[in-house]
Amino acid sequence: MTSIVLGVSAGIAVYKSCELLRLFTESGHDVRVVPTRDALRFVGEPTWAALSGNPVTTEVWESVHEVPHVRIGQSADLVVVAPATADVLARAAHGMANDLLTNTLLTARCPVVFAPAMHTEMWEHPATRANVATLRERGAVVIEPATGRLTGADTGPGRLPDPAEIFEVCRRVLAGRGGDLAGRHVVVSAGGTREAIDPVRFIGNRSSGLQGYALARTAVARGAEVTLVSANVALPDPAGAKVVRVESATQLREAVLAAAEHADAVVMAAAVADFRPVRQSGTKIKKSAAEPDPIHLTKNPDILAELGETRRAGSGTHPRVIVGFAAETDDVLANGRAKLERKGCDLLVVNQVGENLAFGTPDNAAVVLTAEGDSVEIPRGPKEDLADVVWNLVVRRLP
Ligand code: CTP
Repeated sequence: MTSIVLGVSAGIAVYKSCELLRLFTESGHDVRVVPTRDALRFVGEPTWAALSGNPVTTEVWESVHEVPHVRIGQSADLVVVAPATADVLARAAHGMANDLLTNTLLTARCPVVFAPAMHTEMWEHPATRANVATLRERGAVVIEPATGRLTGADTGPGRLPDPAEIFEVCRRVLAGRGGDLAGRHVVVSAGGTREAIDPVRFIGNRSSGLQGYALARTAVARGAEVTLVSANVALPDPAGAKVVRVESATQLREAVLAAAEHADAVVMAAAVADFRPVRQSGTKIKKSAAEPDPIHLTKNPDILAELGETRRAGSGTHPRVIVGFAAETDDVLANGRAKLERKGCDLLVVNQVGENLAFGTPDNAAVVLTAEGDSVEIPRGPKEDLADVVWNLVVRRLP
């Protein structure tokens, strides 16, 4: 049985941690809840004790004969702090040890996950940014807060992500994959672009975003700072990723290139439209026209090729690892190999489309081609598994 320490600090979102606790206990984990003193103002000790089936203490002065300030951290397989307030992040970053939770964080040698929740101003304050950066450098997984309604009427980034999302991050960290992307920034594009014809119509494609979202989730779980450029995806935001929403290929290009400047790796999982209408009608096209005008198309920039070209030219700052995706219907490997070279990427994940594979399904099968001429076959399985293979190959290419 795995031993989990659930640290809770004093934010209004504490009530959501009861649900997180249940997810842990119901999946067979032994959970020790370590609240800060003020967290108990929101949810009291009996709730934590009853739901966890374990004693609950906030101070180092209780059950001293058991040396709890050292033992709880030492024997944990995972420490997750949810919600993590600005105060607890600051104390953790500075190695303070003024309550049982911070003592536990100092003595823990297992993976540590923080799920911050606070007002947007506090989250964006340079002090908090610096503390988060410090914690990530040390290998902790700091989940990006969700964006939405905060305590009052205000909205912005700072919400505690959905307990199920936090649970999923913890589950994957516990699966032993935590940490090898710690301190890295990765950019993932996902979904399918839409090219407007008029204010109500567009040219689009069938990409669901599932593979890109799986890449983002797994990268978060492995400790990366993740920017997810999401084109028209109807999936919940993966906990911990910074999500930038775009519609068209032009917008996707801008968002990816901006994020790529500070990235170690870029993974282009999005299905980008190769063409867009030359002209967009500013008003809805009416069917009353006797004959519809033909829609003339023009080429979109190839973002993947542009990333490869910038790197080849040695101009600007560019990511160390560039990964492309390709959907092919025939001559899969030969077409894939040619595409990898044409686009100048390091890895190309080639999907065979058809037979219910790739679009909109939770499973995927693929071959990953490498710039050195190797190929890695990934049998049909969950998109998360494919994502993990991609990150394994990316990690090997990072210094
Ligand atoms: N891609 C891109 N910008 C585009 C089109 C595609 O960055 N304008 C990226 C996709 O995100 C994906 C890869 O390139 O990673 C897929 O390329 P694909 O569209 O299959 O290649 P094409 O060059 O369009 O080749 P073809 O149409 O001949 O298959």
